[in-house]
Amino acid sequence: METMNIQWFPGHMTKARRMMEENVKLVDAVCEILDARIPNASRNPEIDKLAAGKPRLVILNRIDLADPEITRRWRQYFEKQGFAILETDAKSGKGVKDFVPAVRRLLADKQREYEAKGQVGRPLRLMIVGIPNVGKSTLINKVAGRKAAIAGDMPGVTRGKQWIHIDAGLDLLDTPGILWPKFESQEVGEMLAITNAIKAEVLDKETLGANFMLRLAKMYPDALKERYRIEPDPALNGFELLEQAAKKRGFLVSRGEYDIERMANTLLNEYHDGKLGRLSLELPDAGSVETGE
Ligand code: G4P
Repeated sequence: METMNIQWFPGHMTKARRMMEENVKLVDAVCEILDARIPNASRNPEIDKLAAGKPRLVILNRIDLADPEITRRWRQYFEKQGFAILETDAKSGKGVKDFVPAVRRLLADKQREYEAKGQVGRPLRLMIVGIPNVGKSTLINKVAGRKAAIAGDMPGVTRGKQWIHIDAGLDLLDTPGILWPKFESQEVGEMLAITNAIKAEVLDKETLGANFMLRLAKMYPDALKERYRIEPDPALNGFELLEQAAKKRGFLVSRGEYDIERMANTLLNEYHDGKLGRLSLELPDAGSVETGE
């Protein structure tokens, strides 16, 4: 996953910001794609400024991995802020068929505005933006489908830009806007690493796994009981919980010593694959699920 390797140095952020500023002028709406498990941590901190004045569609992606009840609450949270919302599993395509109708609803006024100005048939244009690895390309491919045709460069406004016709009079910028994630706290960094938005090497895997284990012990103890056959005793720390699980799995390094690092990797991989169930890590208005801040 190449995009994960982007290191967000100030220079890269400046470039991404500039590209976004340039592209946003070409579109009627901005579709911001978030990871439904961490809608806050996976938001770009400047998106409201960058997309100012444009109708917005917030796409909660990876709903196949997110807690449905918490996703419902996030939907309400974003709806209250005036955004159109779509829930998708871009990998399987679930929810993708609602993309075009949602965009059409969002841009109904805009279309009437164009028509009133005599610009009948002017295509509505949109772009998809999001942090690396959130599912932008997967969604674009699914939305575009087989019938999609690259429109090629259009004269004038769109120098060098390619548009995909996704429906009559609806064009999508073929390259998504890659934006940097938040780096506001270690907790946010951990959630981004757990969901593969940034490289896990920002922290050592063992610590990441231990902190994640503790988070799950507080929020989803039953998932741990079921998957790893451990009792998530709140008095234990994350490393001790990993050790318990390593014991159950038989991850032995030497007599009486268990392979905590291997267990940390296993936990992260199994979460990634949805084997622990559908678990969200953030609640709206409440900080992270773990701390309930
Ligand atoms: P990007 O353009 O935003 O960088 O993301 P991209 O579409 O490349 O997606 C990143 C990974 O996330 C891809 O997996 C893709 O299949 C997966 N993905 C996208 N949307 C969803 C979704 O709704 N649910 C699930 N479960 N996965 C999704 P990959 O590159 O094959 O790697 P892996 O993460 O599957 O290992």
